[in-house]
Amino acid sequence: MNNKRIGVLTGGGDCPGLNAVIRAIVKQGITEYGMEITGLIDGYKGLIENNSKVLRLKDISGILTRGGTILGTSNRDNPFQYQTENNGKKEIKDVSEQVLENIKKLNLSSLIVIGGDGSLKIANELYKKGVPIVGVPKTIDNDLSCTEITFGFDTALVTATEAIDKLHSTAESHHRVMIVEVMGRNAGWIALHSGIAGGADLILLPEMPFSIDKICKKVIERHSIGKKFSIVVVAEGAYEAGSSVVVKKIVNDISMPVRLGGIGNRVGDEIEKKTGIETRVTVLGHLQRGGTPSAFDRILATRFGSMAVKMVNEEKSGIMVALKNAEIVSVPIEEAIQKPKYIDPESQIINIARSIGISFGN
Ligand code: F6P
Repeated sequence: MNNKRIGVLTGGGDCPGLNAVIRAIVKQGITEYGMEITGLIDGYKGLIENNSKVLRLKDISGILTRGGTILGTSNRDNPFQYQTENNGKKEIKDVSEQVLENIKKLNLSSLIVIGGDGSLKIANELYKKGVPIVGVPKTIDNDLSCTEITFGFDTALVTATEAIDKLHSTAESHHRVMIVEVMGRNAGWIALHSGIAGGADLILLPEMPFSIDKICKKVIERHSIGKKFSIVVVAEGAYEAGSSVVVKKIVNDISMPVRLGGIGNRVGDEIEKKTGIETRVTVLGHLQRGGTPSAFDRILATRFGSMAVKMVNEEKSGIMVALKNAEIVSVPIEEAIQKPKYIDPESQIINIARSIGISFGN
């Protein structure tokens, strides 16, 4: 087996910075270690269907600033629960042995998996079956444990903050309540950080269930002191105390089929009904996942890619690169996937936000 032939895949939802990781792996892998890098097409699907392409230096030229992933991605194709059709009937099969065969056929000595929680769980299962794997954490949600931050988060934050800035002026002109619903699944990182950066008056987080009455009280209080508009940032996973998250739809994604969305409109309707103040809702959606990565994300993604290929060169396996105390380190994938990283309602940043008058509606 050629020890220097490695496979790279991007799995799960895309996010800005994936191409910067791929670029760092290919550049350093080829020029420093003399490796051959094989890109798997559309995440684990490429391993299941043996669909790949060799990545040369010319293939990664100019991709640093591009959002998305040049390799394609998928959040449907889990080799341990693969959906197939047999005589028109849908079946779920374990095709992990086929993946092992394809890894052999491609003569890959290691895999680098760039993914979030779902993709890294699959990576860990493949590692347990003997595949040497190094993981790279990505997600705009920033909800992966064992790393202080994931790339993609900063770019999403910049997008959300810019949107809040734009809504501020129109909210002020029309004396309205403006609600901005942001992504993040069951973690409120995008909402909390963009809310603080954008000067929101209320931030609603999944980690701190809210009360509609308390939200309305804050809006009315502002009104009574002459602040005739309010900005409310709502995480898609936020919910009213005693109630549950608002599900937008159930999709064909075996590991995480629930798609959240709709809480912004619910809160908006209630505020308008209870306060009589005109309210408008903006749902940012996938805008937060697209576009060119921020400088911060380009640098973090490059550092992650560089460390991942270095780890492979040193024949390390079962680990994920991570950011800790401003340094890139490695942690066991097993540890990183134990539980998601949520906001601690007692944390310093929450207290600071409260101290400057932000309400969490609780
Ligand atoms: O995990 C990233 C994320 O963008 C979440 O913030 C969001 O809930 C979800 O993915 C949306 O998934 P999809 O692209 O399948 O609609």
